Amino acid sequence: MKREMFLGVAAILLLLTGCTSSIQELKSCAELVNSGFRPVARERTERFLGKVQENTAECRGGEKAVRFRSTPYVDWANYWATADSSSFYPGTTTIGGHLGPNGRGIDGALLDLEYQRMELIKFNLFDNSGTYEEYIKGRNGVAGPALKVWNSMRLPKNNPGYEAVGGDGPQLCQGELIRHRTLDGICNDIKNPVMGSTGQPFARNAQFEATFPDLGKDELARNRHGDRLGLLKPDPQVISRTLLTRQQSRPEKCSDGQGLPGYSTEASCDYKKAPFFNVLAAFWIQFMTHDWFSHMEEGHNQPGVMMPVGCTHKLVGNGEKPLTPEEIAKLGCRPDDRIDRAYIAEDKDPASFSFLGKKDLARAYKTTQNTVTAWWDASQIYGYDSTSRQRVKRVPVDSAKLLLTPIGQRPGNGEKLGYLPVFQSSDPINPQWTGQEATAFPDNWSIGMSFYHNLFAREHNLFVEAFRKQAAATPDADSGLRNPLRPDEMIRYKDVSNEELFEVARLVVSAEIAKIHTIEWTPQLLYDEPLYLGMNSNWHGLFRDKDLVSAALEKIVVNNFGKSEDSKKANLWYSVFASGPGIFGLGNKVYRDDAVFAKYDPRKTDIWSLKNPDHVNGGINHFGSPFNFPEEFITVYRLHALVPDLIEYREWNRDPNVIRNKIPVVETFRGKATQAMEERGLANWALSMGRQRLGLLTLQNHPQFLQNLTLPRLSSATKKIDIAALDLIRDRERGVPRFNEFRRQYGLKTLTSFDDFIDQRLSKDSPARAEQERLVGLLREVYGQHKCDASKIITSAQLNDDGSPINDCLGHPNGSMIDNIEDLDTAVGWLSEFTRPHGFAISETQFQVFILNASRRLFSDRFFTSSFRPEFYTNLGVAWVNDNGPDGKMMEKDLSNGHEVEVSPLKRVLLRTMPELTPELEHVVNAFDPWARDRDGYYSLQWKPRKGAESDNAFSNP
Ligand code: HEM
Repeated sequence: MKREMFLGVAAILLLLTGCTSSIQELKSCAELVNSGFRPVARERTERFLGKVQENTAECRGGEKAVRFRSTPYVDWANYWATADSSSFYPGTTTIGGHLGPNGRGIDGALLDLEYQRMELIKFNLFDNSGTYEEYIKGRNGVAGPALKVWNSMRLPKNNPGYEAVGGDGPQLCQGELIRHRTLDGICNDIKNPVMGSTGQPFARNAQFEATFPDLGKDELARNRHGDRLGLLKPDPQVISRTLLTRQQSRPEKCSDGQGLPGYSTEASCDYKKAPFFNVLAAFWIQFMTHDWFSHMEEGHNQPGVMMPVGCTHKLVGNGEKPLTPEEIAKLGCRPDDRIDRAYIAEDKDPASFSFLGKKDLARAYKTTQNTVTAWWDASQIYGYDSTSRQRVKRVPVDSAKLLLTPIGQRPGNGEKLGYLPVFQSSDPINPQWTGQEATAFPDNWSIGMSFYHNLFAREHNLFVEAFRKQAAATPDADSGLRNPLRPDEMIRYKDVSNEELFEVARLVVSAEIAKIHTIEWTPQLLYDEPLYLGMNSNWHGLFRDKDLVSAALEKIVVNNFGKSEDSKKANLWYSVFASGPGIFGLGNKVYRDDAVFAKYDPRKTDIWSLKNPDHVNGGINHFGSPFNFPEEFITVYRLHALVPDLIEYREWNRDPNVIRNKIPVVETFRGKATQAMEERGLANWALSMGRQRLGLLTLQNHPQFLQNLTLPRLSSATKKIDIAALDLIRDRERGVPRFNEFRRQYGLKTLTSFDDFIDQRLSKDSPARAEQERLVGLLREVYGQHKCDASKIITSAQLNDDGSPINDCLGHPNGSMIDNIEDLDTAVGWLSEFTRPHGFAISETQFQVFILNASRRLFSDRFFTSSFRPEFYTNLGVAWVNDNGPDGKMMEKDLSNGHEVEVSPLKRVLLRTMPELTPELEHVVNAFDPWARDRDGYYSLQWKPRKGAESDNAFSNP
């Protein structure tokens, strides 16, 4: 078994020496091989923290990797070939084989990432729904992390499906309930019907004791923060205005994000731009979050009392001092703003339990609820409860299709596919949504949401049409679809009902979205080779073109580890081995015996059966903790800085290099988005947002308009709110640990002062470094310093390098003045991380959260694993998801970063839904890379035009 266990890892990550390395590096590599794989930490305090031994660093990245080991940031970012071509081993121009230095760099990075995922799975799952005690104690001799069914995941009596799943007896979803993605998300896991459904508690990734630090319930939290924290302490609007506001060189041309009359191109709102990521990518992630989570109900928080939101105090020395009117005017904040409080589901003290002499809390001090389904089920389009479903409009005479109507006579072949209808007065909506396109999740609507909802509604209908075409051509052929009530009965193409086809199209669109996110959005967000390989391995597997190895690994994963009651096998090695075959489709084939190579034995056939619940459900793994998003996950998606204030508007049927208008995003807020879409059309917005760079996630880069957003529902004097400040308040209301403890909880190293944010790779005299030093000065001014007390231990998540507890002095001498870095709001902390791996549009702390939760989103979902089958998706649906659309796979003609690549899934959707964009898209490899950028060179981040776009003004702008 052990040999098998190393098969995948060793095949990918062979860490032998190569002949091009220096003698010292070769020696280090030899030592590394001798010492073997490091064990996965047994205790939380023994975690790997993304830091490797000196010889490991030297073997994988030479002297540079060794030099930066002393920083708190992950080591792999300094390995060979993990950045652009300047990171290649001297004298090399390609990655070469696994054995050479560049190969060792990449493989080493992948290995580090896999260790991180294993440790995250082991140490960061804290369920709030009542299963945590069993997770720690186990049940009937089965270790907690290997448990697969939980009482708290049973359907309650008041659920209409209660009797159908077995009522008071053992519950198992069957029949209609397992055919498609259900409206409220029940029965995805057929043995845990309620998992991931609407209204489930958000989980946590941090130890419960580390949540809600400002309640002061935990001694370590009190030691960590003294009495310095509160809902409005430090003042969130002061933080927003000092640390988050975009600096304007010509404020009169920006006008707080409102632009200039007539959408003049003279308008200008400065923002720090990411050269390798476009505005489509910004709105993509908002579109995703609307699918995954929401704290609000029908667009509002707790009704009733409005609460103040700061702009009242600043820190002076160690105390708070009221702001003077002059200071308020200078900051530009608003003391009279008010907002509704966040919903809290449970705020009574949690129960506790003891196990092996250790006392634990059974849940966090308070809990919150997800008001949408947690599954990647396109619920923002199709609905998550009966109210939201009423907002989804279907064609009255053809209910398989979403209702789309062409507008006017605009040119472009996509136009005839139409646009979503507008809400009617009879629709169940919050009045603020009046005038918007009708869709399930209408909140915070803007041109970006309008764009994606129209796009995927068109895609839905195109799938339906393709299916109908197939049905017309081969009416009696097997569609692949089956009804679990009559599993042996073939359903011919012509017999598929409108209702069935609607639900199949939903499955297909959801899977396409998940695929776009995994292999197109994320590799562009994290634009380097390790993450390209890592994300593709999550989906297709690392051995995509080597089916034999892939099949072998899949067997090992599902049949051995998936069924294991040993928690180590059940979880850790499962995760490693899943990178072999990929998570998508895991367990969707079953052979009579467990023979590893059965797939290639012509006498063996796939015996996966709809009648066997263990086949239907067999590919999923929740790692012992029911799937829902953790509250900490939401904070890292507070990405408002991505949004520019003004959209550089272009038109596809005139010269696309010309910016014709600068349209404020706020002028597309809510119903105005619908108007802007109707007037200008999907293809023009696609082109405009496809070419424009989005905002960097860094300090002083929040959109002006979001700091001054008018929300008419607010009963306050200003009716305005600063969303950047509100982001901090919400995290405080929901008890997200502050930045340094957040990092420790996730297995990343502690920072000991604000100076640790400065990127040590920059030369001492570089302007970029001077700017970082300026911003660090502001952090110190806003969050302050205190005299430290070394007797106060502040965490149980980690120890110092020498094994001693981490105390209030963070390694500084007792009694010295140290930065209040423990108090830093997490969202401000990750914006301050100037040190990042190459091509990372997010910080390493955010990324750490994604490693765990992005994988779980796939691992836990039956429809992405064992139920990705024709019985649910139809034959056409399976092919559509696998091939990125109809007509088989399509390849790009050129290599991309040394890889042969398929025409990307979003590019295919864009080409289908807007054929008029074909000439523009011809140059695009990843739809989230600015469309006119020259992508030349290995992971180049250069901002320079591709051939044909030289006259595009955007390129004269840094
Ligand atoms: C036009 C653009 C946008 C507007 C007007 C907007 C506005 C808002 C508002 C009003 C809230 C609710 C605050 C509250 O009461 O708790 C919010 C929450 C949020 N926004 Fe945005 N937003 C925009 C873009 C984005 C983008 C691009 C992202 C990227 C992921 C994003 C992520 C979030 C998240 C994660 C939350 C918290 C949701 C929750 O608590 O469940 N937003 N936004």
